[in-house]
Amino acid sequence: MNKSNKFFDELNFLNIFKLELEKINTLKELNLLRVKYFGKKGIISKKITRLQYLDLHDRKNFGKIINNIKCSMYIFFQQKKEILDKKESNKKEILQDIDISLPGRRKNIGSMHPITNIIYYIESIFRSFGFCVINKSFEIENQYYNFDALNIPVYHPARNTQDTFWFDSDRLLRTQTSNMQIHEIKKKHLPIQIIVPGKVYRKDNDYTHSPIFHQVEGLVIDKGANFSNLIWVIKNFLKCFFNKSMKIRFRSSYFPFTVLSTEVDIMTDQDHWLEVLGCGMVHPNILDRFDIDKKIYSGFAFGMGVERMIMLYYGINDLRLFFKNDIKFLKQFDRSRYY
Ligand code: DAH
Repeated sequence: MNKSNKFFDELNFLNIFKLELEKINTLKELNLLRVKYFGKKGIISKKITRLQYLDLHDRKNFGKIINNIKCSMYIFFQQKKEILDKKESNKKEILQDIDISLPGRRKNIGSMHPITNIIYYIESIFRSFGFCVINKSFEIENQYYNFDALNIPVYHPARNTQDTFWFDSDRLLRTQTSNMQIHEIKKKHLPIQIIVPGKVYRKDNDYTHSPIFHQVEGLVIDKGANFSNLIWVIKNFLKCFFNKSMKIRFRSSYFPFTVLSTEVDIMTDQDHWLEVLGCGMVHPNILDRFDIDKKIYSGFAFGMGVERMIMLYYGINDLRLFFKNDIKFLKQFDRSRYY
């Protein structure tokens, strides 16, 4: 075998390089391979040194071949390096990102607004008395339901006490949940024993009044429903709500849609009477309007302001706090208290 043939045989080191490259798993191993092949005393430089023993023609040809092989090797080498680089930097990132000594991040879990919460609380008490809760109620209303059908015709002075947001000459934002009395009576599914919580609207805005506030309306129409039933319901509701026997008084009052109307006051811790709700026996006009036989059926109704109840419950004196959505304020009301 002449010199050039022997030299040619030795040029299959590309395949050997590829096999060795395949087995490599770390950048450290790759570096060793680089030195072995591309280093100063590496395989390629040794081959190049040996070119000098060939004649000029072979030297030129084999020189080109070695250069081509070197380029291919370099490409394979770079590809492998990129893969390993990525692998190792991923590993590093994962290790850097996860600081297992850090305390876990707490999730900010929202909670029920105190008004919603108090409404649920009120509902649960009335449910225990056998009332149904009506949650679908009308906030945009015709004057018929909000006023006329409740014995408050256009020229009735009671209309002025409830400063109303009107859309047009007929439609308005309801000023009281009593509108739902009419919707329910109209269905004539007797007996009725319901409460209806919901928002009401009036043109009022100071620290004890808000243009939006909440009421809970109650209505019972049944055979023989009477005033002492009403007193029982109110007394026991207040006792359950405040979780103690409250000093309360029924003070004679006036509402257009009830006869024998009263307001209910409770004695506060500061020793003064505070009005919490209005109630009375359903006005016979209303029963007549919907052809309900007054000889058989009678009814009572009541309505309370939710914000007033919650202010009393917690001793809060600025109503506007409920609508500011100040997290610090809202966080004080722990849901678990009501259940
Ligand atoms: N709707 C009355 C108001 O907003 C409250 C009220 C009083 C409701 C007496 C009633 C009732 O059902 O019988 O001031």
